[in-house]
Amino acid sequence: MSDLERWESRFSQEGYLFGTEPNAFLKAQAHRLRSGQDVLSVADGDGRNGVWLAEQGLNVHTVEFSPTALKKAKVLAKARGVAVRAERADLYTWAWPAEAYDVIVVIFIQFAPPVERQRMFEGMKRALKPGGLLLMEGYGPKQLDYGTGGPNRLEWLYSRALLEDAFGEFSSIEIDEYEAELDEGARHKGMSALIDFVGRK
Ligand SMILES: C[S@@+](CC[C@H](N)C(=O)[O-])C[C@H]1O[C@@H](n2cnc3c(N)ncnc32)[C@H](O)[C@@H]1O
Repeated sequence: MSDLERWESRFSQEGYLFGTEPNAFLKAQAHRLRSGQDVLSVADGDGRNGVWLAEQGLNVHTVEFSPTALKKAKVLAKARGVAVRAERADLYTWAWPAEAYDVIVVIFIQFAPPVERQRMFEGMKRALKPGGLLLMEGYGPKQLDYGTGGPNRLEWLYSRALLEDAFGEFSSIEIDEYEAELDEGARHKGMSALIDFVGRK
């Protein structure tokens, strides 16, 4: 089964795989966001984060490769009375535009092996406007003990050193590693080892 088939089968189940409320870290960053900003939500899944960003008044572009997830995201946006520009694309081959976004949101996209991940990180850096904001949450290595979501391969998880190395040229970086209870749909539930990143290009 290909990665796409696996995600399609997960999103084909009834309901919203990651819930319909935004990721808790993203919601806590609301004070950094401004109505009218252009935001990219990377691998937005069934839409909870993109829809919430649109509700905050941002111009939302999402990129995601699962047609079923995109359909669900459209339904959620309609139900909430907001518009989201949702594009179907594989992020491994997507042409990241240059200096296009004020904000890029990256929540739990640890599906990529190191080489592809680095290419996506380079794309994010390119796509942010100067001074633009990168908000990212992922799992850290201790998540392998918890097993409450995310990949089961050490090299796919984030660490402070990995993120500092990848985004070292940013003008500011804040990284927070901690453990917390997550309740974000069936796939992200329970005590989790998290790593949050707030960076300014
Ligand atoms: C763990 S989910 C997170 C979804 C969303 N960010 C959220 O937090 O609700 C990972 C998402 O990445 C998408 N994805 C996986 N590989 C992808 C690829 N190569 N290109 C685009 N999207 C991909 C999956 O379809 C899925 O929606």
